[in-house]
Amino acid sequence: MTDTRLYIEGGRKISGSLSVHGAKNSVLPVLAATLLSPSVSRIKNCPALSDVYSSTRILGSLGCKCRSDKSAIEVDATALSDCEISESLMREMRSSIVFLGAILGRLRRCRLSFPGGCELGPRPIDIHISGLRSLGAKIIEDHGVLDCTLPGTVTGAVINLPLPSVGATENIMLAATIGSGVTLIHNAAREPEIKDLAGFINAMGGKISGAGSSTVTVEGVEKLHGAEFSVMPDRIVAATYMGAAAITGGELMLTGVRPSDMISTISQFEQMGCGVYPYSDRIFISAKKPLNPIKTVRTAPYPGFPTDCQPILMAVLTRARGTSVIVENIFENRFRAAPELRRLGADIKAEGRVAVVEGVPRLSGSPVVATDLRAGAALVLAGLAAEGTTTVSNINYIDRGYEQLEAALKSVGARIKRV
Ligand code: UD1
Repeated sequence: MTDTRLYIEGGRKISGSLSVHGAKNSVLPVLAATLLSPSVSRIKNCPALSDVYSSTRILGSLGCKCRSDKSAIEVDATALSDCEISESLMREMRSSIVFLGAILGRLRRCRLSFPGGCELGPRPIDIHISGLRSLGAKIIEDHGVLDCTLPGTVTGAVINLPLPSVGATENIMLAATIGSGVTLIHNAAREPEIKDLAGFINAMGGKISGAGSSTVTVEGVEKLHGAEFSVMPDRIVAATYMGAAAITGGELMLTGVRPSDMISTISQFEQMGCGVYPYSDRIFISAKKPLNPIKTVRTAPYPGFPTDCQPILMAVLTRARGTSVIVENIFENRFRAAPELRRLGADIKAEGRVAVVEGVPRLSGSPVVATDLRAGAALVLAGLAAEGTTTVSNINYIDRGYEQLEAALKSVGARIKRV
């Protein structure tokens, strides 16, 4: 934890143009996938995020060489030697579990500590483990350490996921890529980031089809080669910027985005009365009218409304003219922004999976604490709209998913600085 804070003088309309960086939730599995081939891969459009640095540290600890050049990261996985991720690196980033499938795929052995819970509540990995077992992996859990081996070649399997888990789908794809059989993943997660990972694996010579649909087919190949790949835009960052325009009554042109990945999010902003104009790789949003409440919004796996956007929408709805209801169906601990938003004058009642947001005519600045990545972003948005000064502490959470959020917002009219 650091003492650095974001200091925001609210009440200024956001207006201008912002480009959206590469997706955190895509770059992490893609970086893990570079391990699959004993060669050099070049990943472009990598955001400068603390979670990305954690991933390169994991790669380095396993014997790979990583070199950054602007937003590209070159990974030389030729000398991959170690199959163990230390507990401290695992603790740094819960999503490091995606390295499991990649290390198993390449070295057939992997040891790492159980990732445990996180800010969002328990983050089980039972679906990852049973999927990998279906591929033939032997997994022993001992004192919080997972010892995994994948003897012989993967000869294919039919795996029915009980839930469309993003991480489990990715781990199974990574572990099944090198082998001799066909693996079918039914009820797979359909998130665009899954399609991105398949795109990279296929660029390396893999044979994955159906990614982005609920059945992913992985045809095992003998080996892969290095590849160059550009990571997709971050749809959650794009939604956060849209939220900044909406909550301040401003307007923004977002560039470098993929509106087709954001249909359910765009629809929520339209329901609030914002004008949203998607082009092929841009979105223009204008929020000139007072915001409408949203009767009920439910988070759901893609293509439903993303849980990662839920705190952002909650912040914006605090300024709507009426009552909105939010139902969180993915993570149990995802209303942590609510008590902090209340410090800014918001009227939110949250119980279990349901939050009721009564719009208020004004928010007022106050010191608040980011309790997780997206809750932190939600507080920044509320701070932009609040009268007076808001300080957001614990911003190391925000740095996990936003590349210089304050610089981006400042460039479009916000009074915000890191102190
Ligand atoms: C990914 C994203 C995260 C996003 C989430 C849901 C990354 C790095 N993170 O996380 O930002 O919020 O998808 O869109 O891509 N579950 C189980 N058992 C398992 C696995 C998951 O019960 O073995 C449950 C989880 O507790 C949760 C739900 O399934 O309730 C969805 O989790 P999952 O899709 O796996 O999320 P992540 O991959 O962890």
